[in-house]
Amino acid sequence: MSEISAEQEAREAALVERVLTSFAGSPDPRTRELVEALTRHVHAFLRETRLTEEEWRRAIEFLTAVGHMTDDRRQEFILLSDVLGASMQTITINNEAYADATEATVFGPFFVEGSPDVGLGGDVAGGAEGEPCWVEGTVTDTSGAPIAGARIEVWEADAEGLYDVQYGDDRVAGRGHLHTDADGRYRFWAVTPTPYPIPDDGPVGELLRATGRSPMRAAHLHLMVEADGCRTLVTHVFPRGDTYLDTDSVFGVRDSLIVDVHHQLPNTPTPDGREVAGPWSRIDFDLVLAPGTVSKDS
Ligand code: BEZ
Ligand code: FE
Repeated sequence: MSEISAEQEAREAALVERVLTSFAGSPDPRTRELVEALTRHVHAFLRETRLTEEEWRRAIEFLTAVGHMTDDRRQEFILLSDVLGASMQTITINNEAYADATEATVFGPFFVEGSPDVGLGGDVAGGAEGEPCWVEGTVTDTSGAPIAGARIEVWEADAEGLYDVQYGDDRVAGRGHLHTDADGRYRFWAVTPTPYPIPDDGPVGELLRATGRSPMRAAHLHLMVEADGCRTLVTHVFPRGDTYLDTDSVFGVRDSLIVDVHHQLPNTPTPDGREVAGPWSRIDFDLVLAPGTVSKDS
């Protein structure tokens, strides 16, 4: 960047001050804090990069395209927040580290209210294509006490890397909920998680291509765990060894959420006696909830 004159520097700084002053009368202090910080950071970005008018116009076109791509079914603004790491940073800030509580990660766009109750030991695959995967563990609080009756929501993509809602028919597959037993234990069948790309046919996909980034998410299974007196946990389990663990397009991977997937040969007896024709796998994952209140906004 070339040096700017003292006069130029003074003009730019004065403009920032004028904008900040314009917000001084905000009746709500939090609104004022947010718009003032936004003003400072946006102007710092413009001044640091010496943004050209052409670049500003292209940025406006990009945001306009993000808006046009967004409707009831597709939230391109959240996707933009995801690939910028802004979603994950907001989650990190709002799910403060607490003892050995399980770490939270991104919610993603594919959760659907009203999933089937598959019951303890049930199958959330519901016909989704993929290798059967037995998942089990405990839900405890941070003192190690088991939590009975915790509600566990599970959702995942099938072996094609697609969620049921992406097929455009009315199928319900790869999702369900169950409750822990009196010892805080849970178990269910799912399908072995597969990596898949985030929707990349819009402006966010263009951004990824322009910056040489992959749209791939590391393979994962989504879990949301709710229990009285506990902070609602929205998290994933990630199979160890997955190709995309270091380059997850939405920065959702946490080392503590990476688990071994134990691959089983065909004809290996299953934990519940279910007949499985081919190979299957199993995952053990214990969930620890921080104290707090049940909230789906977290
Ligand atoms: C997902 O894991 O389902 C997801 C998360 C963020 C963006 C797109 C998909
Ligand atoms: Fe996902």
